[in-house]
Amino acid sequence: MTSLQVENVQLNTGAKMPLLGLGTWLSEKGKVGEAVQEALKIGYRHIDCAHIYGNEDEIGEALAASFTGDVAKRCDVFVTSKLWSTDFAPGDVEPACRLTLKNLQLNYVDLYLLHWPVRCRHGCPPPGQLADDDIIGYSPELIAETWKEMEKLQAAGLVKAIGVSNFTIQQLTALLETADTVPAVNQVESHPHFQQNALKEFCSSKGIVFEAYSPLGAPSRPPRAKKEGSAVLLEDEVLTSLSEKYGCSPAQVSLAWAYSKKIVTIPKTVTPARLKQNLESVTVKLDDEDIKKIDGIDKDIRLLYGGWAHKKGQTAHDFWGGSGV
Ligand SMILES: NC(=O)c1ccc[n+]([C@@H]2O[C@H](COP(=O)([O-])OP(=O)(O)OC[C@H]3O[C@@H](n4cnc5c(N)ncnc54)[C@H](OP(=O)(O)O)[C@@H]3O)[C@@H](O)[C@H]2O)c1
Repeated sequence: MTSLQVENVQLNTGAKMPLLGLGTWLSEKGKVGEAVQEALKIGYRHIDCAHIYGNEDEIGEALAASFTGDVAKRCDVFVTSKLWSTDFAPGDVEPACRLTLKNLQLNYVDLYLLHWPVRCRHGCPPPGQLADDDIIGYSPELIAETWKEMEKLQAAGLVKAIGVSNFTIQQLTALLETADTVPAVNQVESHPHFQQNALKEFCSSKGIVFEAYSPLGAPSRPPRAKKEGSAVLLEDEVLTSLSEKYGCSPAQVSLAWAYSKKIVTIPKTVTPARLKQNLESVTVKLDDEDIKKIDGIDKDIRLLYGGWAHKKGQTAHDFWGGSGV
């Protein structure tokens, strides 16, 4: 297993980012540390984290143990974290980054993302418990102000690259008008049922790496309630029939499809057998006609529509600029 090679994509900083990593959202404390250690042991070299996931301290212990135990070298592991919306005001950005570094027991992260294009009141509770006036919202000026602070983190060496997450074409366009540094990455929902091809092409035209979250269609979360046409990705008959053809799982077909297109994916699991299975997806080589079949199952429906981040009276359509809602 350790000889299994995952290809890299090159960021606009020149750094290399492995095309497959481990996601950690909803990876419970008590399990996430073991999952990260096992992942590094079997060959993962990319871990996706975020302050809001509430588990960076346990991930930090796992990283420290892996680096001192010779499982992996720090310089060979690509670690991402994300600045949460409550820390977007200029005076809050560096302290939040330093807290993440302390929790992760690192001197730097390889990539630091603005988690959502939305500012919230400093110190307010997490999504699900927000009051209407906790959400300050999106504006190009607010994002430009936070982005300047992100550029300072990069200049100070606390983070090697900076990027964004959940940004639309319109929001990226506005950011590019004022940014000195082009975001290295835009991490967004993408999988065969929600491919986001227009956004992918836009990112590629600007040298921004398109990174796919929920690449398995987040099977533990229900498909968009009451949304007509919404379905469980891993039960899609195109994926299940291809899984029989290639002798692998539907999850591996989905990951292999993204890998064939050089899309970065970060499937989450805390289950050892699935860690191995997901990593081994890079050995599944789909024929061109099967890749096209999967291209054809796009439903253009978001699973994660970020209802918490919508300002009072704002619809999902307004928030996402009409994409995937
Ligand atoms: N930037 C953002 O706003 C944002 C939003 C969402 C996600 N993310 C990142 O992207 C990562 C992945 O997205 P996600 O967690 O939403 O969804 P996902 O990776 O598509 O799906 C994760 C779910 O799939 C299960 N699973 C994993 N491997 C499997 C396999 N081989 N077969 C069947 N089921 C499998 C996992 O269960 P077990 O763990 O029980 O095995 C878990 O319930 C997150 O963890 C996070 O790091 C970022």
